[in-house]
Amino acid sequence: MRIDIITVAPGLLESPFNHSIIQRAKNKGLIDIHIHDLREYGLGNYRQIDDTQFGGGAGMVLMIEPIAKCIDALLAERNYDEVIYMTPDAKTLNQITSNTLSLKENILILTGHYKGVDQRVRDKYITKEISIGDYVLTGGELAAAVLVDSVVRLIPGVIGDETSALTDSFQDNLLSPPVYTRPSDYEGMKVPDILLSGNFPKIEEWRSDKAYERTQQIRPDILDE
Ligand code: 6GU
Repeated sequence: MRIDIITVAPGLLESPFNHSIIQRAKNKGLIDIHIHDLREYGLGNYRQIDDTQFGGGAGMVLMIEPIAKCIDALLAERNYDEVIYMTPDAKTLNQITSNTLSLKENILILTGHYKGVDQRVRDKYITKEISIGDYVLTGGELAAAVLVDSVVRLIPGVIGDETSALTDSFQDNLLSPPVYTRPSDYEGMKVPDILLSGNFPKIEEWRSDKAYERTQQIRPDILDE
């Protein structure tokens, strides 16, 4: 999978993509991430990328021309399966969306800042808009890092233990059951006997009961979906 990201703060995206699973996926050649600094497409000597909004009001808006120049240059090279705009005024990311995106070849992600982008950018180029939750971040970069992480780990071969990504919380609309490792007795806090029993059908039953119980308590809303 090839992922292109357009940003006004490229530095914010360096670290998240140079560690752990994403780094390993890059090294294995499973993903190819390219960051594009919107400033390089800015207008005039000052490389202007934003301006005040028509109609008045506080906050700067990212202009269409620099973004159009950048996106058109990328579109001249290849087609994208999705052109995604990260913004708080969109549907919230969930596991189904991540699963779907993990099957794509090329995705382009635009991250906003300030008051966001000129609406005409959204109308002309964007095929999908994603928020990562009901709170406001300074910019879409950290949201893009969250999206990329959740998608990349689903690409076959990225995670060592192939079954692991499929048994995560949310993959079956349930939270994960509790997990334990050694020691079996920590200062009197004992691991449930069932997990030490070796009775695997019973262990699976216990785990699904606990997953259901936990979901019922913490996230009853996802049980209805
Ligand atoms: Cl995608 N962007 C910003 N700026 N804030 C957010 C978000 C995105 N998702 C949740 N909050």
